[in-house]
Amino acid sequence: MAVEAQGGQKTAGIKPATGKLGIMVVGMGAVATTLIAGVEAVRRGLAKPIGSLTQMGTIRLGKRTDGNSPLIKDFVPLASLDDIVFTGWDIFDDNVYEAAAHAKVLDHDHLQQIRPFLEAIQPMPAVFDQHYVKRLNGTRVKKGKHKCDLAQQVIADIQNFQKTVDRVVVLWAGSTEIYLEPTEVHQSIAAFEKGMVDNDPSIAPSQIYAYAALKCGVPFANGAPNLTVDLPCMVELSRQNSAPITGKDFKTGQTFMKTVLAPAFKARMLGVSGWYSTNILGNRDGEVLDDPESFKTKEESKLGVLDYILQPELYPDLYKDIYHKVRINYYPPRGDNKEGWDNIDIFGWLGYPMQIKVDFLCRDSILAAPIALDLVLFLDLAKRTPQLANIGIQEWLSFYWKSPQTAPGLYPEHDLFIQLMKLKNTLRHIMGEDLITHLGLEYYD
Ligand SMILES: NC(=O)c1ccc[n+]([C@@H]2O[C@H](COP(=O)([O-])OP(=O)(O)OC[C@H]3O[C@@H](n4cnc5c(N)ncnc54)[C@H](O)[C@@H]3O)[C@@H](O)[C@H]2O)c1
Repeated sequence: MAVEAQGGQKTAGIKPATGKLGIMVVGMGAVATTLIAGVEAVRRGLAKPIGSLTQMGTIRLGKRTDGNSPLIKDFVPLASLDDIVFTGWDIFDDNVYEAAAHAKVLDHDHLQQIRPFLEAIQPMPAVFDQHYVKRLNGTRVKKGKHKCDLAQQVIADIQNFQKTVDRVVVLWAGSTEIYLEPTEVHQSIAAFEKGMVDNDPSIAPSQIYAYAALKCGVPFANGAPNLTVDLPCMVELSRQNSAPITGKDFKTGQTFMKTVLAPAFKARMLGVSGWYSTNILGNRDGEVLDDPESFKTKEESKLGVLDYILQPELYPDLYKDIYHKVRINYYPPRGDNKEGWDNIDIFGWLGYPMQIKVDFLCRDSILAAPIALDLVLFLDLAKRTPQLANIGIQEWLSFYWKSPQTAPGLYPEHDLFIQLMKLKNTLRHIMGEDLITHLGLEYYD
């Protein structure tokens, strides 16, 4: 592999992260405002980027005895936080300060310190249709003859922003849409474009933003469980325009815990007979998910992980009869401070039953913001990396998703630590470093 020296780094043909990185966020609610306020707070030295692998994580290079573990951000050429510029879209008029105050994730003092910066970011009018998010009623919504016209307006927004920055990534942090399944209209770019002109109901607003981004050659990350880029037409567009895509639905609280605990049970060959997960949540996301059609989208995303991790077809004695239930209850007093409660019925030697209870009193957007940051930085890296830019789906970013996206026919890897190894080995690979397999026999020669 051609590895050239550049700025003290081996960059394997990766274009440097010079200039401004523009992040366009669809939906400037709790997650988006916590991300934007957090990046600004970190830039001003008011806080640390805790929870962000790109900012705080290290990567071992070479043997354990080499003692070489640089920070990831010093190893791969990532955009600096100082070079990030934010804009976005929302259906409400609020600027980012007002939206952050409404979301009540960050406290008053934190927000006051960066208030003018946040007030200066005003979302653009959105592509929105209440059919797809029943509990919201938008006031700042684009108008157009048909969905194709709306897509052209989003393309114009992206192109205008592109004139002011060097590179762009689009992040969906908008609400969860109703449950949709792929139809004929999603099978090719041509069918999708015709479907937009025909106002096909299986084309949701999130798909219109994704189409616009990919059409502009811009990477797209989907923080919600919506059917958006996990479609043949979007994969085709992503590859055609070198615009990386990846999975969906940030893996933050309960599912994060699930993808840590389930591999542990399987590693020890402990059985699982039941896993009951419930949540109480009082933010706008919770209100949207109170609608059964939006909840179904979330439920599908949350339910998928256990089957893939536990592989009941390989271990029928341990996991064949597992009863898995997920509930989300809207409970306004808690706001963004979700409580995720799990009861896990496991069984051990000779089938004797045991129970584990997990009660995660988390803060939803505090967990999601660093994931959103890492994703946009890594997608921007993928776009600049010759080995990654044209492949479409970035499976190495599965680490961040409840529903990782894979090549057709390939089952997704949900185990958090396998995902982390895959991510770090991808970084080593693109930088021309040896992969780490953890074999380790060389230490005993
Ligand atoms: N916070 C977490 O831990 C977490 C984890 C996984 C997934 N998510 C998902 O991330 C998304 C955002 O979560 P949140 O807590 O910030 O929700 P939120 O309700 O605070 O923010 C969503 C914003 O999107 C806007 N919106 C909705 N449809 C839009 C459209 N078509 N165009 C532009 N804006 C639109 C809404 O007006 C709102 O301001 C949700 O879908 C949620 O399910 C969050």
